[in-house]
Amino acid sequence: MLEQKILNIKTQALEDIEKAQSEKELLDLRVKYLGRKSEFNKILKSLKNLSLEEKKKIGPLANSVKKEIDEEIKKAEKIIKSKVDLEKEKIDITAPGKKIKRGHLHPLTIVQNEIENIFVSMGFEIADGPEVETEFYAFDALNIPKDHPARDAWDTFWLKAQTNADDTQTNTDKIQYKSVLLRPHTSPVQVRYMQKNQPPFRIIAPGKCFRHEATDASHEHTFYQFEALVVGDDINAGHFKYIAEEFFSKFFKKKIKVRLRPSFFPFTEPSFEFDINCTVCGGKGCSACQGTGWSEIGGAGMVNQKVFEVSGYPKNKYQGFAWGFGIERLAMIKYKIDDVRLFHGGDLRFIKQF
Ligand code: DAH
Repeated sequence: MLEQKILNIKTQALEDIEKAQSEKELLDLRVKYLGRKSEFNKILKSLKNLSLEEKKKIGPLANSVKKEIDEEIKKAEKIIKSKVDLEKEKIDITAPGKKIKRGHLHPLTIVQNEIENIFVSMGFEIADGPEVETEFYAFDALNIPKDHPARDAWDTFWLKAQTNADDTQTNTDKIQYKSVLLRPHTSPVQVRYMQKNQPPFRIIAPGKCFRHEATDASHEHTFYQFEALVVGDDINAGHFKYIAEEFFSKFFKKKIKVRLRPSFFPFTEPSFEFDINCTVCGGKGCSACQGTGWSEIGGAGMVNQKVFEVSGYPKNKYQGFAWGFGIERLAMIKYKIDDVRLFHGGDLRFIKQF
């Protein structure tokens, strides 16, 4: 009778174990069949009331069934676990891929590339110079001597650089410094290029510049400029006006007129500042140009013969024009941006619009 009961429990248990689908179900079966309150446990407890003979018969049977159920549960647990692991490792090759976030060019780089492409299409070469510049190239060579009031126009970041690091390590009084600075404009590239090249030539020199000034919506301490220099036997201001109008018309993709106003720069003679007709109203006058019809762009002029001399050219042999202006200014007009600080502010909401 008891024996039959045990065998029934075993049959039922093995059947249930086989059907179980999860670790949780198996745990429940373990509690149901082998737990403290299980039918089986009750049987084991009642063994003590049996006769010795019955004990000998039922005891081992009960133990072996208990062991068998326990082992079957363990086996089933293993199988289910490995199935779950496999499920986790499964790769769905049809699932859509994760999108990789791609960057893009900074608006100033885009504008600089556009400028370069236009000038290259007009036969210009692109020249380059260092951002940490010597006092000589930044000022003296451009006819701006020490103590000349014209230097005040460039708020300069001066740096100190030892001329000879070896012989002055021990005595700081003897340290000699040469004057270097973060270049406040791209004009030094003019002389650097001319010292190595002979006219005729046409170049542009775009690049980063720095000025020690308080920032506001139209001033930044770090900005981009872009220089143009055309030198030959008979280059005149008419060439400048033509090239400038060609360039701006291509850049803004509409007919642009250029206006010159007399001005002063030590490295040009005569010097002028130049404006383009307002790209918003076309010259009629609107709020963007304060009703004048013109937007101020930059400085220009006929290269001062003193600059040619410093560069190693004979005096009065060549003529050339030069110009320089901020790339930010151009980008601001083109994209209608009203604060120059946005370019270097690192705000992705701004940058992502380009
Ligand atoms: N270097 C001048 C500046 O930063 C701009 C400039 C004016 C450049 C006249 C020129 C030029 O080449 O001819 O203010």
